[in-house]
Amino acid sequence: MRLDKFLSNNNIGTRSQVKDLLKSGVVTVNGEIVKKADFSIDENRDEICFKGKKIEYKKFIYIILNKPGNIVTATRDKKQETVLDLIKPLPNKDLFPVGRLDKDTTGLLLITNDGDLSHRLLSPKYHVDKTYLVGAKLPLSKSDLEALEAGVDIGDEEITLPAKVELLEDKKLLLTIHEGRYHQVKRMLEAVGNEVVSLKRVSFGGLSLPEDLEEGKWRELTEDELQKII
Ligand code: URA
Repeated sequence: MRLDKFLSNNNIGTRSQVKDLLKSGVVTVNGEIVKKADFSIDENRDEICFKGKKIEYKKFIYIILNKPGNIVTATRDKKQETVLDLIKPLPNKDLFPVGRLDKDTTGLLLITNDGDLSHRLLSPKYHVDKTYLVGAKLPLSKSDLEALEAGVDIGDEEITLPAKVELLEDKKLLLTIHEGRYHQVKRMLEAVGNEVVSLKRVSFGGLSLPEDLEEGKWRELTEDELQKII
């Protein structure tokens, strides 16, 4: 890996800030000052120090974001703000969102550079639970809830898998699904003659959206949180 990439991936600064830092001689590789940005290092073996302190190499980064509405779940978009635009300073250029929330959906979104974990969390094989706080246009009847729980026809080949439903108010429910079909929750509500007016993901595979994480804010997962999904 290039030394400047390693340093920026480890939050030392942007690639151009890192270049200037290198020029000032504050970075050593195995005890020798290195000033060249394109110097090639072995991140698993070499000892890289910044201002005398060893940088512990973190191969993978796991970020939890409380996604606001009006932001697209994508890495880059020419016209619209994306969830990655909210991660500043971007600790790693290879980050991507795990799955997708609709533009108007808020709540828990994982962002990582760990492709294997993402694959596992999204694979239909593993049926990772996702819980949504759903605001509905119309009050939900007992039979609506039973239908959502049992599985509904949303126009796909198969009806939806059994879900868990908890009614909080007549137009507000917690819905836990184990699949991740396109616009699934919205289509499920439509299947019972209703409509989603607000949608927030509050948990994902054992991870809950922290109450103190405001919309638009993010942080790295704690070790405990990571153990819940890995
Ligand atoms: N279901 C939806 O309809 N939208 C989302 O963003 C997530 C689940």
